[in-house]
Amino acid sequence: MRISKRVDGVAPSGIRAFFDLVLGMKDVISLGVGEPDFVTPWHVRARAIESLEQGFTSYTSNKGMIELRGAIAAFLKKRHRLDYDPEEEILITVGVSEALDLAMRSILNPGEKILVPEPYYVAYGPVVDLAGGETVFLKTSIDNGFKITPQQIEKAVVPGVRGLLLGYPSNPTGTSYSKKELEAICRVVKKHDLLVISDELYDELTYDFEHTPLSALPQMKNRVIYLNGFSKSYAMTGFRVGYVCGPADIVGAMTKIHQYTSLCAPITSQMAAIEAIKNSNGDVAAMKKEYDRRRRFIVGALNDIGLRCHMPQGAFYAFPSIASTGESAMDFARNLLKKQKVALVPGDAFGASCGGHVRISYASSYENLKEAVCRIEKYLKKR
Ligand SMILES: Cc1ncc(COP(=O)(O)O)c(C=O)c1O
Repeated sequence: MRISKRVDGVAPSGIRAFFDLVLGMKDVISLGVGEPDFVTPWHVRARAIESLEQGFTSYTSNKGMIELRGAIAAFLKKRHRLDYDPEEEILITVGVSEALDLAMRSILNPGEKILVPEPYYVAYGPVVDLAGGETVFLKTSIDNGFKITPQQIEKAVVPGVRGLLLGYPSNPTGTSYSKKELEAICRVVKKHDLLVISDELYDELTYDFEHTPLSALPQMKNRVIYLNGFSKSYAMTGFRVGYVCGPADIVGAMTKIHQYTSLCAPITSQMAAIEAIKNSNGDVAAMKKEYDRRRRFIVGALNDIGLRCHMPQGAFYAFPSIASTGESAMDFARNLLKKQKVALVPGDAFGASCGGHVRISYASSYENLKEAVCRIEKYLKKR
């Protein structure tokens, strides 16, 4: 076989597999994609264009432009009183996607384990596997709002467990954690000397309470690899800019891999990111307000038509149960697409235990969401 066993063993993304069916169909309302329906704010795009006109077309420092690292440090200091040294403790990456991969490759020895709450973002399993590690999934359910508990972590810690990979607000459930809940998790993390790879990409899209970064909690900074980026809150998915903040030894190790595999994030995108983080001027707040309006609508409407759905606290996803239909998530999604032309993602894509749910992205216009709910209701009545 020409392909390595490690790569061959990784399953392709369940989202891709389903959306190959959507391609080529007309009049489909797609609530499947996990990206903002907003275009990047104009002043950010303008800065990218201007930087090209000014001739900024070179590589940057491997770590990323110091102006951007400095702006991120200042932003985190102001917003969360976090202190990160832009020289040693911050690395600019090609999205959080690259950062996840670098983090796993930097900390894992063959066979070491990472705890991953389920449902999980589709890349979490593969990045651990590709780094030679093993995942231990911690199952959650709609009954407790898809939250992991300190007791669950406590039970799962066995020799070889190195850390916890936590994404909050979560893709696909929108679940987030209050400061108090995080403190309880941190007690177990500290007790067992674990690392936390904390994917906080949707932090600015938290609706019901203030987002607390894990690394801001007492004695956590040295054990948290904090991942964030510009894709979601700033509607900049195509720019491909993310960042890691963490202990200097781990960021240094990640930088070593990054310099040989990516060299640096694109300079045009870094220039745009500087503009975004320094001069957001209410862009994020305006998008967040609209997502929140849609969140309240879609969650209320899904419950009204008989699909039980918990209220997500962040991101832009709803994760209703389709148990009442008696169909598997794959059948439900396929049939709904065929009969009513609404595309959403079967829950299995986010973990083997999630086949009774589907993911609906509400990063789509209010009108689309209204029409989608009508179509789903028709589908449920006509079955
Ligand atoms: C939880 C989570 N982490 C990471 C990513 C990857 O984002 P990026 O565009 O920063 O690579 C996504 C994208 O959907 C995500 O939902």
